[in-house]
Amino acid sequence: MTPTNSLATAPPLATPATNQDFLADVIAGLSKRARSLPCKYFYDARGSELFQKICELPEYYLTRAELQILDRYAGEMAKAVGPRISLIGLGTGAGTKTRLLLEQLQRPIAYIPVDISTEQLQRSTKLFRKIFPALEILPVCADYLEPVKLPSPSRKPGRKVVYFPGSTIGNFEPQSAGEFLRRIAKHVGIGGGLLIGVDLEKDRDVLERAYNDSAGMTAQFNLNLLARANRELGADFDLTQWRHEAVYNSAQGRIEIYLVSEIDQTVHLSGQAFDFAAGEKIITEYSYKHTLEGFTKLAATAGFEFAQMWTDDARLFGVFYFTVL
Ligand code: AVI
Repeated sequence: MTPTNSLATAPPLATPATNQDFLADVIAGLSKRARSLPCKYFYDARGSELFQKICELPEYYLTRAELQILDRYAGEMAKAVGPRISLIGLGTGAGTKTRLLLEQLQRPIAYIPVDISTEQLQRSTKLFRKIFPALEILPVCADYLEPVKLPSPSRKPGRKVVYFPGSTIGNFEPQSAGEFLRRIAKHVGIGGGLLIGVDLEKDRDVLERAYNDSAGMTAQFNLNLLARANRELGADFDLTQWRHEAVYNSAQGRIEIYLVSEIDQTVHLSGQAFDFAAGEKIITEYSYKHTLEGFTKLAATAGFEFAQMWTDDARLFGVFYFTVL
């Protein structure tokens, strides 16, 4: 049996959410007075395809800015994390950013990508085995938000470093973000590191444009959540009677994404009826924007010490490096 290390508070191996989880979460979210649906359900095949398109939109600066940072500073990042590391990639998808980093790492011991998409994991593993034949690659198909056991490399690394790109941490509320970072700190242990992509606070206009794009891709992405509930759970959301809305809440430092009911209507799901008044909203996602100081403080509550941040020319995005002392 492969030895394992836990990136978790509890031992079981994570399995992707089932339709039962989806149903229970949708019913729970719609039953609350402030209606909500969890953003993790955005990413079915259609949602992932739409997200890919969002990343290429002119208004959605995040992906381009992060790639620019890696392109420019991956060498410095490799120096900061040091030689002979085991790199654990969380939600690294196709691996475009990770590849830039791996190319610069000094004699890495292993790469452990953790991703919910089997297809992307297989594709990136195949590619990386070809490009980096000396590197031990141990893919793990799992939802890294849940407790997940990770395989141990055959050689002992100098340190473990978690790589969490894409500003996905922004989709966590501060308390959950703190708890998640704490789990990472515990996993990498003293001397370990975290390299994390974080979207930075900026003008409302830039932010609201990024989440209300002119091609309507983000609207489709948001509405796909209702379409998915219709497809997979037999709900009867009328997609023409809901609209997408994204607003920046500067007091909370977050973009808030809603689905707004256009009319008074009733939606049926699993024998239950949910009434919505015209104008009533379902919150589907928060996307927090952080400052250097704010994110450093948050990471400190999890036991991480700030080492360095790399940013793009316009200071839109930051890649932070933290260590556990
Ligand atoms: C995955 N995550 C970092 C994206 C974001 O910007 O918060 C998800 C997204 N939602 C709408 N557009 C993109």
